[in-house]
Parts: sequence; structure tokens; C-alpha cells
Amino acid sequence: MEIEIERCTPLDLEKILEIEEQSFDDPWREPSFRNELALMEDHSHCHFYKASIPSRGLVGYVVFQTVADELYIKKLAVHPGLRRCGIGSLLMRFTVDYAKKSHILKIVLDCDEDNIGALVFYQALRLRPVSFNRVTRKFVLCMDLMAMESGDSKTRRDQRWVASR
Ligand SMILES: CC(C)(COP(=O)(O)OP(=O)(O)OC[C@H]1O[C@@H](n2cnc3c(N)ncnc32)[C@H](O)[C@@H]1OP(=O)(O)O)[C@@H](O)C(=O)NCCC(=O)NCCS
Repeated sequence: MEIEIERCTPLDLEKILEIEEQSFDDPWREPSFRNELALMEDHSHCHFYKASIPSRGLVGYVVFQTVADELYIKKLAVHPGLRRCGIGSLLMRFTVDYAKKSHILKIVLDCDEDNIGALVFYQALRLRPVSFNRVTRKFVLCMDLMAMESGDSKTRRDQRWVASR
């Protein structure tokens, strides 16, 4: 499948809002996405990209922000009808490549404890849990790019954390 990744524009918001509503119990609304678009225009550390395929147009998106040597993923979603086709992995690979080029040391994100599909997805990509917030019931997941570069054995050992927790 041919998948293209490009910066989002205001014209993409309608499709993004459709996917967002189908993907999250507590979805972002239009002003939040418009805010991300505005931040991307004004700040080089804010990013909002879409994945598109020729037959369907926009099928997924990622929003991330860099702060010093960390990259925080604020949103990642793929159209429900096109999951398990590698689109989420491609958006993540794009984000990791961006991080490496920008000398980022860590990629960080939050994930609900009951979002098992996403937890398995992130585990497959070698993110591992670094903390758990008992109030929000979210894991903080982290990809240590330095450790990955050096093939750190602890990172490899932690690969199966969803199954073992
Ligand atoms: C999480 C999400 C972005 C994954 O996107 P995707 O395009 O389906 O992911 P991929 O096709 O690249 O999956 C890669 C691998 O991750 C694992 N994986 C992905 N989704 C999975 C699921 N629901 N259950 C189990 N494993 C899963 C599988 O190992 C998969 O490989 P396989 O299909 O060859 O078995 C997508 O499920 C989604 O949009 N979910 C709703 C929004 C969300 O939860 N976002 C994350 C918030 S933290």
C-alpha cells in the first residue's frame, strides 16, 4: 500500500475529526486541532502530520512536540477501517526518524491502561512503561533512542511488558 506522510492543513480537519471521534472516548474537538495547526505555523517544535493513501485520502495522523531533548506524542490515530495495515507503524517510524534527525534522546507518550490494542502496538515498537498515573489510569511510555542505538539489553528485555504485567 502506498502511504504518503505530509503536514496537515486546515482542509484536513473534517476527516481528522471523523477519525478522532471514532478513535477516542474523550476526543479532541476542532479548536484543539486548530490550535495545533497554529502552533505548527508559529513554532518549529510543534508538528502535525497526516498519512494518506491514494484510494481513501487521509487515513491517520500524528501530533507531536519537542521540548529540549524529548519528543512528546500528543495524538496518534488511524481510521478504524484501516487499522492493522501498517499505517500507525509508518507514522511512528516517521516520528522516530524526525526525532533521530533532531538529536532527540527520548520519545514519550501517555496511554490509557485499558487501551490494550495501543499498548501492544507500542510494545511492538519497543516503547516501555516508565510510570503509571493512578489518577488518570494512564501509563507513561518511553522510547530511549540512545539505548536503541546501542542495542541496550534492558530495552530488549522489556519488550514483552504488556503480556507480563
Ligand atoms: C494504535 C493505532 C494507532 C495502531 O495503528 P495501526 O495502523 O492499526 O497499527 P499497525 O497496523 O502499524 O500495527 C503494527 C503492529 O502493532 C500491533 N497492534 C496494532 N494494533 C493492535 C491491536 N488492536 N491489538 C493487538 N496488536 C495490535 C500488532 O503487532 C501489529 O502488527 P500486525 O498487524 O502485523 O499483527 C490504532 O489502533 C488506533 O488508531 N487506535 C485508536 C487510537 C489510539 O488508541 N491511539 C493511541 C493513543 S495512545
